[in-house]
Amino acid sequence: MRQPPLSSTASYQQLRTHAADAGAWQMRELFAQDPQRFERLSCEAAGLFLDYSKNRLDGRTLELLAELVRERGVERLRDAMFAGEKINLTEQRAVLHTALRAPREQQITVDGQDVSGDVHAVLARVKEFSDAVRSGAWLGHTGKPITDIVNIGIGGSDLGPKMVCLALRQFAHPRLTMHFVSNVDGHDMDAALSKVDPETTLFIIASKTFTTAETMMNAHTARAWFLQNGSEEALAKHFVAVSTNVEAIEAFGIDPANMFPFWDWVGGRYSVWSAIGLPVALCVGYGYFADFLAGAHAMDEHFRTAPIEQNLPMILALVGFWNREFLDAGSVSIAPYHQDLNRFPAYLQQLDMESNGKRVTRAGDPITDYATGPVIWGDVGTNGQHAYFQLLHQGTDVTPIDFIAALRPAHEFHNHHAALLANCFAQSEAFMKGKTIDEVRQDLQGLDAAEIERLAPHKTFPGNRPSNTILMEYLTPATLGALIALYEHKVFVQGALWDVNSFDQWGVELGKVLARKIEAELTGDARPQQHDGSTNGLIARAKAAV
Ligand code: F6P
Repeated sequence: MRQPPLSSTASYQQLRTHAADAGAWQMRELFAQDPQRFERLSCEAAGLFLDYSKNRLDGRTLELLAELVRERGVERLRDAMFAGEKINLTEQRAVLHTALRAPREQQITVDGQDVSGDVHAVLARVKEFSDAVRSGAWLGHTGKPITDIVNIGIGGSDLGPKMVCLALRQFAHPRLTMHFVSNVDGHDMDAALSKVDPETTLFIIASKTFTTAETMMNAHTARAWFLQNGSEEALAKHFVAVSTNVEAIEAFGIDPANMFPFWDWVGGRYSVWSAIGLPVALCVGYGYFADFLAGAHAMDEHFRTAPIEQNLPMILALVGFWNREFLDAGSVSIAPYHQDLNRFPAYLQQLDMESNGKRVTRAGDPITDYATGPVIWGDVGTNGQHAYFQLLHQGTDVTPIDFIAALRPAHEFHNHHAALLANCFAQSEAFMKGKTIDEVRQDLQGLDAAEIERLAPHKTFPGNRPSNTILMEYLTPATLGALIALYEHKVFVQGALWDVNSFDQWGVELGKVLARKIEAELTGDARPQQHDGSTNGLIARAKAAV
Protein backbone atom coordinates (compact mmCIF):
# COMPACT_ATOMS: atom_id res chain seq x y z
CA MET A 1 0.00 0.00 0.00
CA ARG A 2 1.34 3.44 -0.96
CA GLN A 3 1.84 5.69 2.09
CA PRO A 4 2.10 9.47 1.87
CA PRO A 5 5.83 10.39 1.72
CA LEU A 6 7.49 10.35 5.15
CA SER A 7 8.56 13.97 4.80
CA SER A 8 4.98 15.10 4.17
CA THR A 9 3.66 13.84 7.52
CA ALA A 10 2.76 16.38 10.20
CA SER A 11 5.01 14.91 12.89
CA TYR A 12 7.99 14.69 10.53
CA GLN A 13 7.61 18.34 9.67
CA GLN A 14 7.30 19.26 13.33
CA LEU A 15 10.43 17.22 13.98
CA ARG A 16 12.26 19.24 11.30
CA THR A 17 11.36 22.51 13.01
CA HIS A 18 12.20 21.06 16.40
CA ALA A 19 15.56 19.80 15.03
CA ALA A 20 16.47 23.34 13.98
CA ASP A 21 16.31 24.31 17.69
CA ALA A 22 17.97 21.10 18.85
CA GLY A 23 20.94 21.87 16.63
CA ALA A 24 22.01 24.48 19.19
CA TRP A 25 21.57 22.27 22.26
CA GLN A 26 24.55 21.26 24.34
CA MET A 27 24.13 17.99 26.21
CA ARG A 28 26.24 19.31 29.07
CA GLU A 29 23.58 21.96 29.63
CA LEU A 30 20.71 19.49 29.25
CA PHE A 31 22.21 17.39 32.05
CA ALA A 32 22.83 20.49 34.20
CA GLN A 33 19.24 21.68 33.72
CA ASP A 34 17.66 18.30 34.55
CA PRO A 35 19.11 16.24 37.40
CA GLN A 36 16.62 13.47 36.55
CA ARG A 37 17.71 13.23 32.91
CA PHE A 38 19.37 9.81 33.34
CA GLU A 39 16.33 8.36 35.13
CA ARG A 40 13.92 9.85 32.58
CA LEU A 41 15.89 8.80 29.52
CA SER A 42 16.64 5.21 30.35
CA CYS A 43 14.57 2.02 30.38
CA GLU A 44 14.90 -1.66 31.09
CA ALA A 45 13.44 -4.93 29.78
CA ALA A 46 14.33 -8.61 29.28
CA GLY A 47 17.54 -8.25 31.29
CA LEU A 48 18.81 -5.23 29.32
CA PHE A 49 19.15 -1.67 30.51
CA LEU A 50 19.29 1.15 27.94
CA ASP A 51 20.66 4.60 28.80
CA TYR A 52 19.89 6.99 25.95
CA SER A 53 20.28 10.19 27.94
CA LYS A 54 23.54 11.06 26.18
CA ASN A 55 21.73 12.04 22.98
CA ARG A 56 20.87 15.49 21.73
CA LEU A 57 17.16 15.20 22.44
CA ASP A 58 14.58 15.99 25.10
CA GLY A 59 11.11 14.92 26.19
CA ARG A 60 9.47 16.87 23.36
CA THR A 61 11.69 15.14 20.80
CA LEU A 62 10.48 11.79 22.06
CA GLU A 63 6.85 12.88 22.02
CA LEU A 64 7.17 13.90 18.37
CA LEU A 65 9.02 10.72 17.46
CA ALA A 66 6.34 8.61 19.18
CA GLU A 67 3.73 10.57 17.27
CA LEU A 68 5.55 9.74 14.05
CA VAL A 69 5.45 6.04 14.97
CA ARG A 70 1.67 6.29 15.35
CA GLU A 71 1.20 8.37 12.23
CA ARG A 72 3.24 5.92 10.12
CA GLY A 73 1.35 2.86 11.41
CA VAL A 74 4.48 1.18 12.79
CA GLU A 75 2.55 -0.66 15.50
CA ARG A 76 0.12 -1.98 12.89
CA LEU A 77 2.99 -3.31 10.80
CA ARG A 78 4.60 -4.83 13.91
CA ASP A 79 1.37 -6.66 14.73
CA ALA A 80 1.11 -7.82 11.11
CA MET A 81 4.64 -9.24 11.33
CA PHE A 82 3.91 -11.15 14.53
CA ALA A 83 0.64 -12.41 13.04
CA GLY A 84 2.41 -13.98 10.04
CA GLU A 85 1.09 -11.57 7.38
CA LYS A 86 3.18 -11.42 4.21
CA ILE A 87 4.87 -8.11 4.92
CA ASN A 88 7.90 -8.98 2.75
CA LEU A 89 6.11 -7.64 -0.30
CA THR A 90 8.69 -8.25 -3.00
CA GLU A 91 8.97 -11.93 -2.16
CA GLN A 92 5.40 -12.42 -0.92
CA ARG A 93 6.62 -13.94 2.33
CA ALA A 94 5.75 -13.76 5.98
CA VAL A 95 8.49 -12.56 8.35
CA LEU A 96 8.28 -14.86 11.33
CA HIS A 97 11.66 -15.26 13.00
CA THR A 98 9.72 -14.45 16.19
CA ALA A 99 7.82 -17.75 15.76
CA LEU A 100 11.12 -19.63 16.05
CA ARG A 101 11.48 -18.56 19.67
CA ALA A 102 7.83 -18.63 20.75
CA PRO A 103 6.59 -21.30 23.17
CA ARG A 104 4.91 -24.36 21.66
CA GLU A 105 1.46 -23.35 22.90
CA GLN A 106 1.55 -20.00 21.05
CA GLN A 107 -0.40 -20.61 17.83
CA ILE A 108 1.10 -18.81 14.83
CA THR A 109 -0.24 -19.37 11.35
CA VAL A 110 1.02 -18.76 7.82
CA ASP A 111 -1.52 -19.32 5.04
CA GLY A 112 -3.87 -20.77 7.64
CA GLN A 113 -1.28 -23.40 8.71
CA ASP A 114 -0.02 -23.51 12.29
CA VAL A 115 3.78 -23.25 12.14
CA SER A 116 4.64 -23.78 15.81
CA GLY A 117 4.26 -27.57 15.50
CA ASP A 118 6.85 -27.63 12.69
CA VAL A 119 9.18 -25.30 14.60
CA HIS A 120 9.11 -27.44 17.72
CA ALA A 121 9.45 -30.69 15.78
CA VAL A 122 12.73 -29.39 14.27
CA LEU A 123 13.86 -28.10 17.67
CA ALA A 124 13.30 -31.61 19.09
CA ARG A 125 15.58 -33.00 16.34
CA VAL A 126 18.19 -30.32 17.05
CA LYS A 127 18.07 -31.39 20.70
CA GLU A 128 18.34 -35.09 19.93
CA PHE A 129 21.23 -34.63 17.51
CA SER A 130 23.19 -32.12 19.61
CA ASP A 131 22.77 -34.32 22.71
CA ALA A 132 24.14 -37.32 20.78
CA VAL A 133 27.17 -35.46 19.44
CA ARG A 134 27.96 -33.79 22.76
CA SER A 135 27.62 -36.96 24.82
CA GLY A 136 29.87 -38.87 22.44
CA ALA A 137 27.08 -41.25 21.43
CA TRP A 138 27.31 -40.03 17.83
CA LEU A 139 30.44 -41.61 16.40
CA GLY A 140 32.42 -40.95 13.25
CA HIS A 141 32.77 -43.76 10.71
CA THR A 142 35.80 -45.24 12.49
CA GLY A 143 34.03 -45.28 15.85
CA LYS A 144 35.51 -42.12 17.39
CA PRO A 145 33.49 -39.29 18.97
CA ILE A 146 33.30 -35.96 17.15
CA THR A 147 35.90 -33.38 18.21
CA ASP A 148 35.55 -30.70 15.50
CA ILE A 149 32.56 -29.10 13.86
CA VAL A 150 32.97 -27.19 10.60
CA ASN A 151 30.03 -24.97 9.68
CA ILE A 152 30.03 -24.13 5.98
CA GLY A 153 27.76 -21.19 5.19
CA ILE A 154 27.90 -17.47 4.42
CA GLY A 155 25.97 -14.32 5.38
CA GLY A 156 23.14 -15.23 7.70
CA SER A 157 24.14 -18.88 7.53
CA ASP A 158 27.50 -18.00 9.07
CA LEU A 159 27.48 -14.68 10.91
CA GLY A 160 24.81 -15.57 13.48
CA PRO A 161 26.06 -19.01 14.59
CA LYS A 162 29.67 -17.85 14.53
CA MET A 163 29.00 -14.71 16.55
CA VAL A 164 26.86 -16.59 19.10
CA CYS A 165 29.34 -19.47 19.55
CA LEU A 166 32.08 -16.92 20.20
CA ALA A 167 29.90 -14.88 22.54
CA LEU A 168 28.93 -17.96 24.57
CA ARG A 169 32.45 -19.37 24.70
CA GLN A 170 32.10 -19.73 28.49
CA PHE A 171 29.34 -22.29 27.99
CA ALA A 172 31.08 -24.30 25.25
CA HIS A 173 31.62 -28.07 25.31
CA PRO A 174 35.29 -28.75 26.14
CA ARG A 175 35.68 -31.55 23.57
CA LEU A 176 34.20 -29.68 20.62
CA THR A 177 36.11 -27.10 18.59
CA MET A 178 33.99 -24.95 16.30
CA HIS A 179 35.21 -23.83 12.87
CA PHE A 180 33.39 -21.57 10.44
CA VAL A 181 34.20 -21.53 6.74
CA SER A 182 32.38 -18.89 4.75
CA ASN A 183 34.69 -17.36 2.16
CA VAL A 184 35.05 -18.79 -1.32
CA ASP A 185 38.72 -17.90 -0.85
CA GLY A 186 40.35 -21.32 -0.53
CA HIS A 187 42.53 -19.99 2.27
CA ASP A 188 39.49 -20.08 4.53
CA MET A 189 38.82 -23.76 3.81
CA ASP A 190 42.52 -24.57 3.93
CA ALA A 191 42.84 -23.01 7.40
CA ALA A 192 39.99 -25.16 8.75
CA LEU A 193 40.89 -28.44 7.06
CA SER A 194 44.51 -28.17 8.12
CA LYS A 195 43.37 -28.31 11.75
CA VAL A 196 40.88 -31.19 11.67
CA ASP A 197 40.88 -34.97 11.39
CA PRO A 198 38.29 -36.41 8.97
CA GLU A 199 37.57 -39.29 11.37
CA THR A 200 36.37 -36.94 14.10
CA THR A 201 34.94 -34.00 12.13
CA LEU A 202 31.32 -33.12 11.53
CA PHE A 203 30.50 -30.78 8.63
CA ILE A 204 27.33 -28.72 8.67
CA ILE A 205 26.35 -27.37 5.26
CA ALA A 206 24.18 -24.37 6.10
CA SER A 207 22.38 -22.54 3.35
CA LYS A 208 18.81 -21.31 3.25
CA THR A 209 18.66 -21.66 -0.53
CA PHE A 210 21.31 -24.37 -0.93
CA THR A 211 22.34 -22.58 -4.13
CA THR A 212 24.73 -19.92 -2.79
CA ALA A 213 27.83 -20.28 -4.96
CA GLU A 214 30.44 -19.87 -2.21
CA THR A 215 28.77 -22.38 0.09
CA MET A 216 28.25 -24.92 -2.65
CA MET A 217 31.88 -24.70 -3.74
CA ASN A 218 33.07 -25.03 -0.12
CA ALA A 219 30.68 -27.93 0.49
CA HIS A 220 31.96 -29.83 -2.57
CA THR A 221 35.57 -29.19 -1.54
CA ALA A 222 34.90 -30.49 1.98
CA ARG A 223 33.15 -33.55 0.57
CA ALA A 224 36.02 -34.31 -1.82
CA TRP A 225 38.54 -33.84 1.01
CA PHE A 226 36.58 -36.24 3.20
CA LEU A 227 36.30 -38.84 0.43
CA GLN A 228 40.09 -39.00 0.13
CA ASN A 229 39.95 -41.17 3.26
CA GLY A 230 36.31 -42.04 3.89
CA SER A 231 33.76 -43.85 1.73
CA GLU A 232 30.42 -42.55 0.38
CA GLU A 233 28.62 -44.55 3.13
CA ALA A 234 30.80 -42.86 5.77
CA LEU A 235 29.51 -39.43 4.67
CA ALA A 236 26.31 -39.98 6.67
CA LYS A 237 28.30 -39.85 9.92
CA HIS A 238 30.09 -36.64 8.97
CA PHE A 239 27.80 -34.42 6.88
CA VAL A 240 24.54 -32.80 7.91
CA ALA A 241 22.68 -29.95 6.22
CA VAL A 242 20.43 -27.09 7.22
CA SER A 243 18.25 -25.56 4.54
CA THR A 244 14.79 -24.75 3.23
CA ASN A 245 15.68 -26.59 0.00
CA VAL A 246 15.21 -30.28 0.78
CA GLU A 247 15.57 -31.42 -2.89
CA ALA A 248 18.96 -29.72 -3.25
CA ILE A 249 20.24 -31.35 -0.05
CA GLU A 250 19.25 -34.76 -1.36
CA ALA A 251 20.89 -34.03 -4.71
CA PHE A 252 24.10 -33.15 -2.86
CA GLY A 253 24.04 -36.64 -1.35
CA ILE A 254 23.25 -35.93 2.26
CA ASP A 255 21.27 -38.55 4.15
CA PRO A 256 17.66 -37.27 4.52
CA ALA A 257 17.91 -38.25 8.22
CA ASN A 258 20.67 -35.64 8.55
CA MET A 259 18.61 -32.72 7.22
CA PHE A 260 17.40 -29.94 9.45
CA PRO A 261 14.78 -27.90 7.63
CA PHE A 262 13.55 -24.36 8.06
CA TRP A 263 11.12 -22.23 6.12
CA ASP A 264 10.97 -19.38 3.59
CA TRP A 265 9.43 -17.09 6.23
CA VAL A 266 12.81 -17.00 8.01
CA GLY A 267 15.12 -14.39 6.48
CA GLY A 268 18.79 -15.42 6.24
CA ARG A 269 19.93 -12.64 8.58
CA TYR A 270 17.18 -13.59 11.05
CA SER A 271 17.88 -17.31 10.96
CA VAL A 272 20.16 -18.01 13.92
CA TRP A 273 17.03 -19.00 15.89
CA SER A 274 16.21 -21.74 13.38
CA ALA A 275 18.18 -24.93 12.65
CA ILE A 276 20.85 -22.53 11.32
CA GLY A 277 21.60 -22.25 15.06
CA LEU A 278 22.59 -25.95 15.13
CA PRO A 279 26.28 -25.07 15.74
CA VAL A 280 25.15 -23.10 18.79
CA ALA A 281 23.18 -26.05 20.18
CA LEU A 282 26.18 -28.31 19.52
CA CYS A 283 28.60 -25.87 21.11
CA VAL A 284 26.70 -24.83 24.25
CA GLY A 285 24.12 -27.59 24.50
CA TYR A 286 20.39 -27.56 23.81
CA GLY A 287 19.50 -26.24 27.29
CA TYR A 288 21.46 -23.04 26.75
CA PHE A 289 20.20 -22.80 23.16
CA ALA A 290 16.67 -22.89 24.59
CA ASP A 291 17.64 -20.11 27.05
CA PHE A 292 18.94 -18.09 24.09
CA LEU A 293 15.57 -18.48 22.33
CA ALA A 294 13.73 -17.61 25.56
CA GLY A 295 15.77 -14.40 25.98
CA ALA A 296 14.76 -13.32 22.49
CA HIS A 297 11.15 -14.24 23.15
CA ALA A 298 11.14 -12.07 26.29
CA MET A 299 12.26 -9.15 24.12
CA ASP A 300 9.57 -10.01 21.53
CA GLU A 301 6.88 -9.87 24.18
CA HIS A 302 8.20 -6.56 25.44
CA PHE A 303 8.35 -5.13 21.92
CA ARG A 304 4.83 -6.36 21.16
CA THR A 305 3.21 -5.01 24.31
CA ALA A 306 5.13 -2.14 25.95
CA PRO A 307 4.04 1.44 25.26
CA ILE A 308 6.28 3.26 22.78
CA GLU A 309 7.80 5.47 25.48
CA GLN A 310 9.05 2.47 27.49
CA ASN A 311 9.70 0.13 24.60
CA LEU A 312 13.43 -0.56 24.23
CA PRO A 313 13.48 -1.45 20.52
CA MET A 314 11.20 1.49 19.73
CA ILE A 315 13.40 3.88 21.71
CA LEU A 316 16.65 2.58 20.24
CA ALA A 317 15.13 2.90 16.77
CA LEU A 318 13.75 6.39 17.37
CA VAL A 319 17.00 7.72 18.79
CA GLY A 320 18.84 6.26 15.79
CA PHE A 321 16.24 7.67 13.42
CA TRP A 322 16.60 11.12 15.00
CA ASN A 323 20.39 11.02 14.70
CA ARG A 324 20.23 9.81 11.10
CA GLU A 325 17.51 12.12 9.86
CA PHE A 326 18.06 15.30 11.78
CA LEU A 327 21.69 15.27 12.94
CA ASP A 328 23.00 13.88 9.63
CA ALA A 329 24.75 10.89 11.18
CA GLY A 330 25.71 8.67 8.25
CA SER A 331 27.08 5.82 10.33
CA VAL A 332 26.69 4.18 13.71
CA SER A 333 29.62 2.65 15.53
CA ILE A 334 29.00 -0.44 17.67
CA ALA A 335 31.35 -0.70 20.63
CA PRO A 336 30.89 -3.86 22.70
CA TYR A 337 33.03 -3.61 25.82
CA HIS A 338 33.15 -7.39 25.96
CA GLN A 339 35.78 -9.39 24.13
CA ASP A 340 33.37 -12.29 23.56
CA LEU A 341 31.12 -9.98 21.54
CA ASN A 342 33.88 -9.24 19.05
CA ARG A 343 31.83 -10.49 16.08
CA PHE A 344 28.71 -8.60 17.15
CA PRO A 345 29.45 -5.49 15.02
CA ALA A 346 29.92 -7.72 11.94
CA TYR A 347 26.68 -9.52 12.75
CA LEU A 348 24.81 -6.21 13.06
CA GLN A 349 26.28 -5.02 9.78
CA GLN A 350 24.36 -7.67 7.90
CA LEU A 351 21.26 -7.36 10.07
CA ASP A 352 20.98 -3.59 9.65
CA MET A 353 22.60 -2.83 6.30
CA GLU A 354 21.08 -5.73 4.34
CA SER A 355 17.69 -4.84 5.86
CA ASN A 356 17.59 -1.07 5.58
CA GLY A 357 20.13 -0.34 2.84
CA LYS A 358 17.28 0.47 0.46
CA ARG A 359 16.48 3.39 -1.84
CA VAL A 360 12.84 2.86 -2.78
CA THR A 361 9.69 2.73 -0.66
CA ARG A 362 7.64 -0.40 -0.16
CA ALA A 363 5.50 0.80 -3.05
CA GLY A 364 8.63 1.13 -5.23
CA ASP A 365 8.88 4.92 -5.31
CA PRO A 366 12.41 6.39 -5.21
CA ILE A 367 13.32 7.96 -1.87
CA THR A 368 14.74 11.36 -2.67
CA ASP A 369 14.31 13.62 0.32
CA TYR A 370 15.42 11.64 3.35
CA ALA A 371 18.17 9.21 4.22
CA THR A 372 17.64 5.52 5.01
CA GLY A 373 19.88 2.98 6.77
CA PRO A 374 23.25 4.17 8.09
CA VAL A 375 26.57 2.39 7.76
CA ILE A 376 27.15 0.08 10.75
CA TRP A 377 30.68 -0.68 11.86
CA GLY A 378 32.79 -1.07 14.97
CA ASP A 379 34.99 -3.25 17.10
CA VAL A 380 35.37 -4.18 20.73
CA GLY A 381 36.39 -1.68 23.36
CA THR A 382 39.03 -0.94 24.43
CA ASN A 383 40.72 -1.87 21.13
CA GLY A 384 38.73 0.65 19.10
CA GLN A 385 39.85 3.44 21.42
CA HIS A 386 43.42 2.96 20.20
CA ALA A 387 42.47 2.79 16.54
CA TYR A 388 39.62 4.98 15.30
CA PHE A 389 38.17 6.72 18.38
CA GLN A 390 40.38 9.72 17.52
CA LEU A 391 38.11 10.45 14.56
CA LEU A 392 34.99 9.91 16.64
CA HIS A 393 36.19 12.45 19.21
CA GLN A 394 37.70 15.12 17.00
CA GLY A 395 36.83 14.34 13.37
CA THR A 396 34.44 16.50 11.36
CA ASP A 397 31.71 13.84 11.21
CA VAL A 398 29.41 13.06 14.10
CA THR A 399 29.10 9.28 14.61
CA PRO A 400 26.67 7.99 17.24
CA ILE A 401 28.02 5.06 19.24
CA ASP A 402 26.29 2.15 20.96
CA PHE A 403 28.31 1.06 23.98
CA ILE A 404 27.44 -2.44 25.17
CA ALA A 405 28.75 -3.97 28.39
CA ALA A 406 28.12 -6.65 31.00
CA LEU A 407 28.29 -5.39 34.58
CA ARG A 408 29.81 -8.63 35.83
CA PRO A 409 32.56 -10.63 34.21
CA ALA A 410 32.69 -14.38 33.73
CA HIS A 411 36.35 -14.47 34.80
CA GLU A 412 38.20 -13.82 38.01
CA PHE A 413 40.41 -10.92 36.95
CA HIS A 414 38.18 -8.34 38.63
CA ASN A 415 40.66 -5.51 38.28
CA HIS A 416 40.43 -5.99 34.48
CA HIS A 417 36.68 -5.65 34.57
CA ALA A 418 36.78 -2.43 36.56
CA ALA A 419 39.29 -1.06 34.04
CA LEU A 420 37.07 -2.15 31.13
CA LEU A 421 33.90 -0.58 32.52
CA ALA A 422 35.81 2.57 33.51
CA ASN A 423 36.91 2.95 29.89
CA CYS A 424 33.41 2.34 28.58
CA PHE A 425 31.80 4.93 30.84
CA ALA A 426 34.68 7.40 30.42
CA GLN A 427 34.35 7.28 26.65
CA SER A 428 30.64 8.02 26.66
CA GLU A 429 31.27 10.84 29.12
CA ALA A 430 34.04 12.27 26.95
CA PHE A 431 31.91 12.10 23.79
CA MET A 432 29.11 13.90 25.57
CA LYS A 433 31.09 16.51 27.50
CA GLY A 434 34.08 17.13 25.27
CA LYS A 435 36.63 19.56 26.54
CA THR A 436 36.26 23.30 26.02
CA ILE A 437 39.12 25.52 24.97
CA ASP A 438 39.03 27.20 28.38
CA GLU A 439 39.41 23.85 30.12
CA VAL A 440 42.34 23.07 27.86
CA ARG A 441 43.95 26.45 28.64
CA GLN A 442 43.51 25.68 32.32
CA ASP A 443 45.25 22.31 31.87
CA LEU A 444 48.14 23.95 30.06
CA GLN A 445 48.85 26.51 32.79
CA GLY A 446 52.57 26.74 33.28
CA LEU A 447 53.44 26.87 29.58
CA ASP A 448 54.05 30.25 28.02
CA ALA A 449 50.99 32.02 26.68
CA ALA A 450 51.86 31.66 22.99
CA GLU A 451 52.44 27.92 23.40
CA ILE A 452 49.09 27.55 25.18
CA GLU A 453 47.31 29.28 22.29
CA ARG A 454 49.18 27.18 19.72
CA LEU A 455 48.23 23.89 21.38
CA ALA A 456 44.76 24.69 22.69
CA PRO A 457 42.76 24.12 19.44
CA HIS A 458 44.36 20.71 18.95
CA LYS A 459 43.52 19.62 22.48
CA THR A 460 39.93 20.87 22.41
CA PHE A 461 37.11 18.31 22.04
CA PRO A 462 33.77 19.59 20.69
CA GLY A 463 31.79 16.99 22.68
CA ASN A 464 28.00 16.94 22.30
CA ARG A 465 28.45 13.63 20.46
CA PRO A 466 25.61 11.13 20.94
CA SER A 467 25.82 7.64 22.38
CA ASN A 468 23.65 4.92 23.91
CA THR A 469 24.81 2.55 26.60
CA ILE A 470 23.29 -0.93 26.86
CA LEU A 471 24.06 -2.86 30.03
CA MET A 472 23.31 -6.39 31.14
CA GLU A 473 24.30 -8.12 34.32
CA TYR A 474 26.15 -11.03 32.69
CA LEU A 475 26.52 -12.03 29.07
CA THR A 476 24.42 -15.22 29.11
CA PRO A 477 22.47 -17.13 26.47
CA ALA A 478 19.31 -15.29 27.58
CA THR A 479 20.77 -11.77 27.61
CA LEU A 480 22.48 -12.39 24.27
CA GLY A 481 19.16 -13.57 22.81
CA ALA A 482 17.46 -10.44 24.13
CA LEU A 483 20.25 -8.22 22.77
CA ILE A 484 19.99 -9.62 19.24
CA ALA A 485 16.19 -9.38 19.30
CA LEU A 486 16.48 -5.78 20.52
CA TYR A 487 18.49 -4.89 17.42
CA GLU A 488 16.26 -6.94 15.10
CA HIS A 489 13.25 -4.94 16.25
CA LYS A 490 15.17 -1.68 16.14
CA VAL A 491 15.89 -2.39 12.47
CA PHE A 492 12.23 -3.27 11.92
CA VAL A 493 10.97 0.01 13.41
CA GLN A 494 13.43 2.10 11.42
CA GLY A 495 12.56 0.27 8.20
CA ALA A 496 8.87 0.89 8.91
CA LEU A 497 9.51 4.60 9.47
CA TRP A 498 11.55 4.86 6.28
CA ASP A 499 8.86 2.85 4.49
CA VAL A 500 11.36 0.37 3.02
CA ASN A 501 11.05 -3.40 2.76
CA SER A 502 13.56 -4.52 5.39
CA PHE A 503 13.22 -8.17 4.40
CA ASP A 504 14.54 -8.51 0.87
CA GLN A 505 18.11 -8.07 -0.44
CA TRP A 506 18.05 -7.58 -4.19
CA GLY A 507 21.18 -5.44 -3.93
CA VAL A 508 23.42 -8.49 -3.59
CA GLU A 509 22.15 -10.10 -6.80
CA LEU A 510 23.94 -8.05 -9.47
CA GLY A 511 27.44 -8.83 -8.20
CA LYS A 512 26.58 -12.55 -7.95
CA VAL A 513 25.40 -12.68 -11.58
CA LEU A 514 28.46 -10.82 -12.88
CA ALA A 515 30.82 -13.01 -10.81
CA ARG A 516 29.42 -16.15 -12.45
CA LYS A 517 30.08 -14.67 -15.88
CA ILE A 518 33.62 -13.54 -15.05
CA GLU A 519 34.48 -16.86 -13.39
CA ALA A 520 33.66 -18.61 -16.67
CA GLU A 521 35.90 -16.13 -18.49
CA LEU A 522 38.76 -16.55 -16.02
CA THR A 523 38.79 -20.30 -16.34
CA GLY A 524 38.08 -20.45 -20.09
CA ASP A 525 40.45 -19.80 -23.00
CA ALA A 526 38.96 -16.67 -24.48
CA ARG A 527 40.23 -13.19 -23.66
CA PRO A 528 36.88 -11.46 -23.25
CA GLN A 529 36.66 -7.79 -24.14
CA GLN A 530 33.01 -7.15 -23.44
CA HIS A 531 33.49 -5.34 -20.10
CA ASP A 532 34.62 -1.81 -19.35
CA GLY A 533 38.33 -1.09 -19.73
CA SER A 534 39.13 -1.58 -16.06
CA THR A 535 37.36 -4.93 -15.73
CA ASN A 536 38.87 -6.22 -19.01
CA GLY A 537 42.31 -5.16 -17.77
CA LEU A 538 41.90 -6.88 -14.39
CA ILE A 539 40.69 -10.12 -16.01
CA ALA A 540 43.63 -10.05 -18.42
CA ARG A 541 46.11 -9.64 -15.56
CA ALA A 542 44.55 -12.54 -13.63
CA LYS A 543 44.68 -14.77 -16.72
CA ALA A 544 48.30 -13.85 -17.37
CA ALA A 545 49.17 -14.87 -13.80
CA VAL A 546 47.68 -18.35 -14.10
O1 F6P B 1 24.23 -12.49 0.02
C1 F6P B 1 22.91 -12.41 0.38
C2 F6P B 1 22.39 -13.60 1.07
O2 F6P B 1 21.28 -13.95 0.35
C3 F6P B 1 22.06 -13.32 2.53
O3 F6P B 1 20.87 -12.66 2.69
C4 F6P B 1 22.08 -14.69 3.10
O4 F6P B 1 22.15 -14.67 4.49
C5 F6P B 1 23.32 -15.24 2.44
O5 F6P B 1 23.27 -14.71 1.13
C6 F6P B 1 23.43 -16.73 2.42
O6 F6P B 1 22.34 -17.32 1.78
P1 F6P B 1 22.04 -18.88 1.92
O7 F6P B 1 21.78 -19.16 3.35
O8 F6P B 1 20.85 -19.13 1.04
O9 F6P B 1 23.24 -19.63 1.44
